[in-house]
Amino acid sequence: MKICILLAAGAAMGALGLAACTPTKVAETPPATAPAPSAPKLPVSLNAVMVAMVDHAAEPIWVNGYKPPTSEAGWRDLEYNAHEVAVNGKLIQLVGTGPNDAKWVANPDWIRYADAMSAAGMAALAAAKAKDVAGVNTAGDQLVESCEGCHKTFKPDLTTGGIYKDPNYPKK
Ligand code: HEC
Repeated sequence: MKICILLAAGAAMGALGLAACTPTKVAETPPATAPAPSAPKLPVSLNAVMVAMVDHAAEPIWVNGYKPPTSEAGWRDLEYNAHEVAVNGKLIQLVGTGPNDAKWVANPDWIRYADAMSAAGMAALAAAKAKDVAGVNTAGDQLVESCEGCHKTFKPDLTTGGIYKDPNYPKK
């Protein structure tokens, strides 16, 4: 580069010339787990997603583990709930409107637990399709592990949005 050579050649500007020619440090590539800059933002908080979607779909899967569906429609419901858990595990890797959401989804441990939840959903889906009750049970255990692991690490004592599974908690 012409300018570099000129600067470097200038006796008084030697040091400056070197500095000017040093390539600027390329910004570190973000970890693969970070959401893409164009990732959509959820219109509600992750707190709301937990209650309205994650918990809502997980609960009946656990129930079906010991009380298997007795009709085709029941098995189909189980399949749908399994789909929801599998997709929710990916959905909660997006930022919602909660104050901690961005910080949470940027943490690799968060992604790990969320992916584990998604995988448990897929296991439940396979078991539902095969009408394999023991498999539903095993997938349910796998699912609990993902919830508990993440909650131990990230869940605050009081939720950021004040949204709880039990509408009467905490006692008002
Ligand atoms: C990747 C992390 C993660 C996973 C996986 C996860 N949660 Fe959560 N969950 C949280 C965090 C964090 C909060 C608190 C959100 C807030 O305060 O904004 C929460 C809040 C909740 C709440 C609302 C608070 C309450 O106690 O009533 C429920 C219900 C819930 N989660 C259920 C589940 C269930 C069921 C699963 C598994 C099927 C699960 N979560 C999996 C991180 C996770």
